[in-house]
Amino acid sequence: MATLNFASLAQLPFSVVSLAFATMVHAQSTIYLSPATNAYSAPNISQIIPPSFAGMGIEPSNLYAFTGGPHKNLLTPGLLQNLGDYSGVPPQLRIGGNSQDNMVWEDDWNEYYFGQNTNTTQAGQTPADAFFFGPTYFECLNRLPLGSPIVFGLNLAYNGADWATRVTASARAALTMLKNPAVIGFEIGNEPDIYTGNYREVGYGGVQFIAEWISRAEAVTSGVLSDMNITSMFFEPSTTASTIGKPTFEIASMMTEGINVTSNITNSSYIHGWNQHDYFYFVNVSHYDLTLEWLMDLDNTEAQFAYWAKQVAIGLSYGYPYYLREMASAGPVGLQGISDTFGAALWTLNFFLYAASLNISAIGIHMTANSYAAPWQPNTVNGVEQHVRPSYYAFAAFAQLLGNCNGTARVAEFLGNQSNIRAYGIYGNDTLRSIIMINSNLVNDTSSNSSGVTFDLNIPELKNQVLYLSTLTAGGANFTTGTTWNGLTYSDSDGSSSGDSVSSAGNASFDDSGRATIAVRNTQAIVANIGWVLGTNAVSTPNSTDPTMHNAKSDAAKASAAARTSALIAASSSLLAGATSLSADPSAGGSAKKSGAPSTGSGHVGIVLAIVAGAASLGAAHILWRIG
Ligand SMILES: *[C@@H]1O[C@H](CO)[C@@H](O)[C@H](O)[C@H]1NC(C)=O
Ligand SMILES: *[C@@H]1O[C@H](CO)[C@@H](O)[C@H](O)[C@H]1NC(C)=O
Ligand SMILES: *[C@@H]1O[C@H](CO)[C@@H](O)[C@H](O)[C@H]1NC(C)=O
Ligand SMILES: *[C@@H]1O[C@H](CO)[C@@H](O)[C@H](O)[C@H]1NC(C)=O
Ligand SMILES: *[C@@H]1O[C@H](CO)[C@@H](O)[C@H](O)[C@H]1NC(C)=O
Ligand SMILES: *[C@@H]1O[C@H](CO)[C@@H](O)[C@H](O)[C@H]1NC(C)=O
Ligand SMILES: *[C@@H]1O[C@H](CO)[C@@H](O)[C@H](O)[C@H]1NC(C)=O
Ligand SMILES: *[C@@H]1O[C@H](CO)[C@@H](O)[C@H](O)[C@H]1NC(C)=O
Ligand SMILES: *[C@@H]1O[C@H](CO)[C@@H](O)[C@H](O)[C@H]1NC(C)=O
Ligand SMILES: *[C@@H]1O[C@H](CO)[C@@H](O)[C@H](O)[C@H]1NC(C)=O
Ligand SMILES: *[C@@H]1O[C@H](CO)[C@@H](O)[C@H](O)[C@H]1NC(C)=O
Ligand SMILES: *[C@@H]1O[C@H](CO)[C@@H](O)[C@H](O)[C@H]1NC(C)=O
Repeated sequence: MATLNFASLAQLPFSVVSLAFATMVHAQSTIYLSPATNAYSAPNISQIIPPSFAGMGIEPSNLYAFTGGPHKNLLTPGLLQNLGDYSGVPPQLRIGGNSQDNMVWEDDWNEYYFGQNTNTTQAGQTPADAFFFGPTYFECLNRLPLGSPIVFGLNLAYNGADWATRVTASARAALTMLKNPAVIGFEIGNEPDIYTGNYREVGYGGVQFIAEWISRAEAVTSGVLSDMNITSMFFEPSTTASTIGKPTFEIASMMTEGINVTSNITNSSYIHGWNQHDYFYFVNVSHYDLTLEWLMDLDNTEAQFAYWAKQVAIGLSYGYPYYLREMASAGPVGLQGISDTFGAALWTLNFFLYAASLNISAIGIHMTANSYAAPWQPNTVNGVEQHVRPSYYAFAAFAQLLGNCNGTARVAEFLGNQSNIRAYGIYGNDTLRSIIMINSNLVNDTSSNSSGVTFDLNIPELKNQVLYLSTLTAGGANFTTGTTWNGLTYSDSDGSSSGDSVSSAGNASFDDSGRATIAVRNTQAIVANIGWVLGTNAVSTPNSTDPTMHNAKSDAAKASAAARTSALIAASSSLLAGATSLSADPSAGGSAKKSGAPSTGSGHVGIVLAIVAGAASLGAAHILWRIG
């Protein structure tokens, strides 16, 4: 362990000094942090993080598994409600995926399952009109918490002569039948970059997509939104393949080709925000075998995301928020022994903090009933009963961090690029509130290995104050049960929490020069909150500054839901205007390859496209996304 000249560190408004870590930390190493207490002195402070930031995507073909059919599923609404209670707004949900492009609306389809169309007319390996959905779909979605912000996926693949009637019927059904959640936008088509040779003829690209996207947005605006006084800025262009293999789907290219057309009905554009998809790893696409060790080396996340980080900055430079609507540790359905372990919970917490630091406005971790990467399994699958997974505890931790700032949370990364060690600060009302310390060095049995790192904090402004320590922990990195966060555990039957954060919290005091030390064991994360135990204060939400925030509800719940969703997208225009504008970098990658993938088991076909990015600079990291 090296020593550092402490006096020189104290001169800096913000400094991070750390040791070079070996992959595995056996002894107790020390990390010195001297973060700014004022957000404006913190390098690369993020925009305000929407309280609904840490969300999920639900694959439409699996909706009834999550909500229940004739009998309500209690686990899904319970777990979502916890997160809404913690942050002030329930998590953003994308209802979309491959199967959104296989479903057509039928007013009189009243079963709690999808109708099978025996007389399809549409193209596609799974035809674009393969299934019917009807009113029970929205009846079941109404079981989700009041004010849940929903981005609803419309079918773009359907291309029959009556497409306008079809798409407006679906949009109208969503807006009028969803009483409890609030539709905040539509995604038109899932991953159209891979429609070529499937729903559309070979050669279908961004230019063709933009024309179809605008025509659908215009039809829904004139046929549905304008009657409801909803702005036309309600649609999220799918930028899923905005990368090397499909440059015409890059944000910059789509802007050049006219995606930002002005609606002649509203004089506004149709764009609600950018809709990107990306997985950390994708089975049969990534050219290596994912291990828990690899996932837990957090540098791999930043390497895999390097290309997308540039796209975020480009997207923001045009004045629209950037949403990562489909993500997971592993696609299409996670990996057993990796995605469902406590190690993945540490990965998830780090990813939320990292993604928020890039000014992404929401994350949707993709869920199917059979996905090991979903934060919970909603029903019995292969004889295994419904249960909460370790990664849910990372959602809970992040939601409490946001709620602790009453809708004013911003994040700064204090320490990156250190393999398994990360530190971040959360600022509320522009003042440092919480320090998050992650030690993802892998230990499978923490009862026999108590090694870790010590964080040595030097914050003179906080002299003599107390830090309250909330811990995200489990018996080991490969454990799938026994996770706790902040002293809390969650019921597998209804998601209710038990435990006591106050009595389980540790504490650490700053001395009278402003130094405090905190030990973080390997395979653990600790949040040090200044002045009180995280999650013990009442939570409110502020008013939104975002002009694109809407609440389409027309019933009595409107006022209440509007209040709860008002802080959804708090990205202020000044922050957006200040975002760094990076130029697209088509030289950043290598070749694209496309490979067929069989059914994921949920009745739809997935195809996968991978971009193997700059192998020299990124090592084994990949840029990849799912197509279908
Ligand atoms: C802040 O962001 C810039 C540009 O992305 C980067 O070069 C710099 O290293 C970042 N600083 C810190 C302290 O993270
Ligand atoms: C199938 O669809 C075609 C075209 O819409 C229609 O002419 C035909 O009658 C349909 N067949 C059945 C069995 O519904
Ligand atoms: C839409 O707005 C107009 C003008 O403000 C108002 O007269 C009308 O009642 C509103 N319609 C609905 C459905 O809210
Ligand atoms: C996008 O369109 C809107 C509405 O027409 C316009 O105000 C805005 O300047 C356009 N943005 C860009 C980056 O062209
Ligand atoms: C609005 O634009 C569409 C095409 O984008 C066009 O068909 C329509 O005629 C226009 N309406 C008006 C009133 O200009
Ligand atoms: C759109 O702009 C035109 C030209 O400035 C104006 O005549 C029209 O009234 C505006 N329409 C709306 C809905 O604001
Ligand atoms: C935010 O901070 C300012 C000054 O730093 C203070 O005046 C204001 O009351 C604070 N607001 C809240 C909600 O804490
Ligand atoms: C966790 O890892 C340990 C040591 O590698 C192994 O003995 C144990 O069986 C693993 N547990 C699970 C649930 O995989
Ligand atoms: C931890 O457990 C995982 C899964 O059981 C296994 O792949 C890994 O090799 C183990 N690592 C160590 C260091 O025990
Ligand atoms: C958040 O708002 C609630 C309700 O207004 C208030 O009781 C609580 O003290 C606030 N929390 C913070 C950290 O300011
Ligand atoms: C939120 O907006 C409402 C209505 O515009 C206003 O009455 C209220 O004071 C605002 N609250 C805050 C905290 O700004
Ligand atoms: C990956 O490929 C193997 C071998 O072809 C196949 O058995 C498996 O189903 C594929 N998995 C996925 C998720 O595509």
